[in-house]
Amino acid sequence: MVSKHLRSLHFLSRDEIETILELTRDIKQKPAEYAHTLAGKTLAMLFELPSLRTRNSFETAMTQLGGHAIFIKCPPEESFPEKSRELAGFVVDTWLGTMESIKDKAKVLSRYADVIMCRATKDETVEALIKYSDIPVIDGMTPSFHPCQALTDLFTIWEKKGRFKGLEMAIVGDLGSQQDGANAANSLMIGCAKMGIDVTASCPEMNRFMPYGKPWEWALEDAKETGTRIEIEHDPQKAVKDADVIYAYYQYSFEAGPEKMRERMVMFPPYQVNTKLVDQAKPDVIVMHCLPAYRGLEITDPVIDGPHSVVYDQAENRLHTQKAILISLAKK
Ligand code: CP
Repeated sequence: MVSKHLRSLHFLSRDEIETILELTRDIKQKPAEYAHTLAGKTLAMLFELPSLRTRNSFETAMTQLGGHAIFIKCPPEESFPEKSRELAGFVVDTWLGTMESIKDKAKVLSRYADVIMCRATKDETVEALIKYSDIPVIDGMTPSFHPCQALTDLFTIWEKKGRFKGLEMAIVGDLGSQQDGANAANSLMIGCAKMGIDVTASCPEMNRFMPYGKPWEWALEDAKETGTRIEIEHDPQKAVKDADVIYAYYQYSFEAGPEKMRERMVMFPPYQVNTKLVDQAKPDVIVMHCLPAYRGLEITDPVIDGPHSVVYDQAENRLHTQKAILISLAKK
């Protein structure tokens, strides 16, 4: 990888992405050959939000590469009621952005670790880590991006379909959530644009559910450069017609509260990825979801457990892709 950090795929060339995917394939085929590749290296993992896949795949990746990962729990201070913040200090490892500056944290971790990975509630946190860190920083999910998930998704598509060019992908869900950020969808659309996968983005016709801002501009810019088609189609039945890949994306957010959930219960049922919708796509369509999934809401059990689903392979591939990312960055 030419870039020192991993933040947006917009800043990687097609060749750089291909190099990571080829390394991922080699690692997946011959894991024993990489058992000592990162011996003596340490990954510092800062998590402001919970994670099953990202945390465990990175930690396992470091173990299997001969290195070590340190988990640093740092939920945002404001996520605790004001009265309990002092007590909360006993159960968290550190706070990001309060008490100690991001600069000091980045400088200190740079003296111990070889790579920093951070899942943060604000884009600015990872941007500040990148600014001040003397070692590579990986965006482990921020409101705008989820590059590790997107690289895994591209690898899974390549593994299942053997190519990128000429494939049609439909991404169905909330593609603009201003609250949590449509991070994985943003990164995936940029990745598809770079690699030549045509994308139909399907979401309700309301501004807050539609792609927006810099990530969307970058996806369109990258698509223009590679001659790839990216368009929005609000009718999910039309969006998935003849698709090679259906990507079921988040539609419900229980954290958003009962009022917003009620609105979603009205807006999103037509976008549920169910058997009827999948039947509109090509017979060999693959169905993806980055997980965690709201089963029975955005995707049904017969689809996620059915013959088109590749969600567990996709989740497994997080491990192999993280290894390729870590090797590419830590060896710099
Ligand atoms: N897809 C994903 O990033 O999962 P986690 O939130 O469990 O890490």
